[in-house]
Amino acid sequence: MAKKEKNNKDIKIAIAGVGNCASSLVQGIYYYKKVKNDDDLVPGLMHNIVGKYKISDIKIVAAFDIDKRKVGKDVSQAIFALPNCTKIFHSDVPKTGVRVKMGPVLDGIADHMKDYPEEKRFVQAKIKPVDVAKELKKSGAEVLINYMPVGSQKATEYYANAALGAGCAFINCMPVFICSDKEWAEKFEKKGLPCIGDDIKSQVGATIVHRALSHLFCERGVKIERSYQLNFGGNCDFMNMLSRSRLKSKKISKTEAVESELAKRLTYDNLHIGPSDYVPFLKDNKICFIRIEGRKFGNVPVELELRLSVEDSPNSAGCVIDAVRMAKIALDRKVAGPLISPSAYFMKHPIQQFTDEKAREMVEEFIKDQRER
Ligand SMILES: NC(=O)c1ccc[n+]([C@@H]2O[C@H](COP(=O)([O-])OP(=O)(O)OC[C@H]3O[C@@H](n4cnc5c(N)ncnc54)[C@H](O)[C@@H]3O)[C@@H](O)[C@H]2O)c1
Repeated sequence: MAKKEKNNKDIKIAIAGVGNCASSLVQGIYYYKKVKNDDDLVPGLMHNIVGKYKISDIKIVAAFDIDKRKVGKDVSQAIFALPNCTKIFHSDVPKTGVRVKMGPVLDGIADHMKDYPEEKRFVQAKIKPVDVAKELKKSGAEVLINYMPVGSQKATEYYANAALGAGCAFINCMPVFICSDKEWAEKFEKKGLPCIGDDIKSQVGATIVHRALSHLFCERGVKIERSYQLNFGGNCDFMNMLSRSRLKSKKISKTEAVESELAKRLTYDNLHIGPSDYVPFLKDNKICFIRIEGRKFGNVPVELELRLSVEDSPNSAGCVIDAVRMAKIALDRKVAGPLISPSAYFMKHPIQQFTDEKAREMVEEFIKDQRER
């Protein structure tokens, strides 16, 4: 099945967007650096080892942002700079020797952000942007992780093109459709590069909980008639998403992730899913309310109400830390194009949806090289 593997243990990653999710990922790389065996009981990880790769094999070699408090700083400092506000669970991040470079802003900053205090929002650095593809090549990056804000269509396409130009695998953590888009998928396939996307489905987040409960209702014969999922938080992601015009693909991504678990699709009126508000004091704590209404035996109504409270960014990092290692496995095996199994397991909007149970089974097979992608 796979061609002969190269024996290269480091996984050189580059990060586009050094926000809260990147902060959690980088903290996690150092927090878990001592994890050496699959049998160690480690809270918070889905896989201690992926193939032959430990978390300590992940090395940051490049990073890009546009905020004046981050650009020019070592990654170890930039991840703790404002407006980042996620929980610091590992402050002891050593100097990486990698300075954050200025990326092109394009549509990365929403207009309405200027109405908020500087400590809460992005503040653009007045520096000439670098050529990201050139910088990626220079750094030797193998995997580029895209953390652009929701609605950054142009910026995401720019970074996807940079990955193609520099020969990097691409992990798209946000809802601009790249890996799930046929044309973009073909571009990666043609270049011999793997991609995983789109839009991270967090470890235990609103999407996976809503999917699991919808699946349960359907499996137990309940006819789901109406459902909503309301989300709010106080980080930049939620501030950015106050602009409804930036939300189109986020709504599609979140809605399709749940719809794909329903026995019968609901009409527009009966399914409402989306980011709902920005509450600054919550910082990176996201609150989600889920309601499911259905009919069970005897056509008798059943209702479920759930409140989920999670620190948003470590929740995404718990998946990205595995996705990075799967992208590296694909590079080793020379597998190109969208990785069906990791995308279905880790992303809300993969090129092909599967139940989470099936996707997990497929991911395990992919790691063991019993499944090509
Ligand atoms: N659990 C989660 O947190 C989660 C889950 C799914 C998807 N996502 C998505 O991941 C993305 C990142 O989330 P986050 O919480 O880290 O957001 P964030 O707002 O904290 O970080 C975004 C970063 O991108 C930078 N940026 C903006 N435009 C840029 C450009 N053109 N070039 C380089 N950098 C630029 C900003 O300065 C900021 O540092 C968002 O789209 C979010 O919706 C997050």
